[in-house]
Amino acid sequence: KWAERGAAKIVRNVADPKTGEITKQTISKGINDFKFGEVIGDGSYSTVMLATSIESNQKYAVKVLNKEYLIRQKKVKYVNVEKNTLQRLNNSRTVVKLFFTFQDEAHLYFLLEYAPNGDFLSVMKKYGTLNEECACYYGAQIIDAIHFIHSKGIIHRDIKPENILLDGDMKVKLTDFGTAKILDPVTKVNNNNSKTATFDLLTRSKSFVGTAEYVTPELLNDSYTDYRCDIWAFGCILFQMIAGKPPFKATNEYLTFQKVMKVQYAFTAGFPVVIRDLVKKILLKQPSQRLTISAIKAHHFFNDKNFSDGSIWDDNPPEIQ
Ligand code: ADE
Repeated sequence: KWAERGAAKIVRNVADPKTGEITKQTISKGINDFKFGEVIGDGSYSTVMLATSIESNQKYAVKVLNKEYLIRQKKVKYVNVEKNTLQRLNNSRTVVKLFFTFQDEAHLYFLLEYAPNGDFLSVMKKYGTLNEECACYYGAQIIDAIHFIHSKGIIHRDIKPENILLDGDMKVKLTDFGTAKILDPVTKVNNNNSKTATFDLLTRSKSFVGTAEYVTPELLNDSYTDYRCDIWAFGCILFQMIAGKPPFKATNEYLTFQKVMKVQYAFTAGFPVVIRDLVKKILLKQPSQRLTISAIKAHHFFNDKNFSDGSIWDDNPPEIQ
């Protein structure tokens, strides 16, 4: 049972205006509480529309999924994964928030945080290429967001520019967790006998192929992947910011896969030396030879960024050029 039928119940604390006494009120949110607007995104099995709360005028992005289609295409699992993932990550500023879910006869609705500046692919398409300063600003946030979801035991598995949204302050928010892998916590006994829950990020998962241009060689060659697929995708996106196109791109999926398997890519003329060095150390065939997230953060390309105090999320966005 993935959502309340027709409406999602939310509990609200309401203060009495005279006495100040707080009582709990259960209210239901359903389709009639929102005004639906323009289509702002299109997935393979969903449509994302702008929605405005009639009560508060708050804007949301509503992801609408067709139930019949989901069942016919055997995608029901993806919907549950997306909901469970977003719930696990819901208190983070680096992932889109899930506010409500509800359904009617034909559709499921996910009321998501609205990111007014759209997705990162559109930004890159609009400007063609980004300069080093922009690559550093967006790159730092993207790798930190990936680091965060991994620390919560979530591997995205389809990191790509379309799945990176920009909020009103041009801060990065990851979205589209339908194909994520949710790791079970493993209990670690510390030296002092206390226990902490961690995740085994090296848990292998099989068969799922994300998007051709960002897929790892190990998935194509050996049908397995682990958390390092998100790091590989980061390397591809970093290349793309500067080059204006992903490193592995051909006229069709088959030829793209051939290039990925051989790690066959070429830097464009004038590609900055520092970023070239970083990309080279990420896009390596052997996952064990690639830089880890900590090593990426410590790379001299990110010398000006302090990842440990969260200040990268307070930086002013550079003018895009
Ligand atoms: N496109 C897809 N999801 C979106 C969201 N949450 N906000 C803005 N645009 C989107």
